[in-house]
Amino acid sequence: MTSTSPPIRVLFVCLGNICRSPMAEGVFRHLVREAGLEQRFRIDSAGTGAWHEGEPPDERATAVAAQRGVVLGGRARQVEPADLRAFDYILAMDADNLGRLERMKRLSAPDAEVRLFRSFDPGAGPDAEVPDPYYGGPHGFEDGFDMIERAGRGLLEHIRREHRL
Ligand code: 4NP
Repeated sequence: MTSTSPPIRVLFVCLGNICRSPMAEGVFRHLVREAGLEQRFRIDSAGTGAWHEGEPPDERATAVAAQRGVVLGGRARQVEPADLRAFDYILAMDADNLGRLERMKRLSAPDAEVRLFRSFDPGAGPDAEVPDPYYGGPHGFEDGFDMIERAGRGLLEHIRREHRL
């Protein structure tokens, strides 16, 4: 694999793109940087809904991430059909996100790889979700961060095996 190989493109998707998927993006970016693979990846996140478009990550997500040494960034945007062609791995936080992405995939990019993110969490079953923390208390964000970290490590291992990195 040379430095001129095309980047591996990874997109994390939740509902609002202000809580779970920005945490997943930040954690995965952190893990990739730790592994010295920053140049090999393009990492982004998006939401199936548009209500929070243009907003920064939720301050509860930013605070939990900061406690764990992960900086969140970016502005919320809605996922669009072109994303199904523009990314190699598309990771849904829950079954509702997955259903919406699969409808988009059928219409625009039947070969896209769309999966539940927590299917890469070795401590979880194949249908496990990262629950929506928006209307709950702070421990929803802490628990979500832990799930995201485990799934992120599993996803990176999976990609490293597939791409011999
Ligand atoms: P996220 O959380 O999907 O993890 O970004 C949510 C953010 C906003 C809303 C729901 C979930 N909302 O209903 O506005």
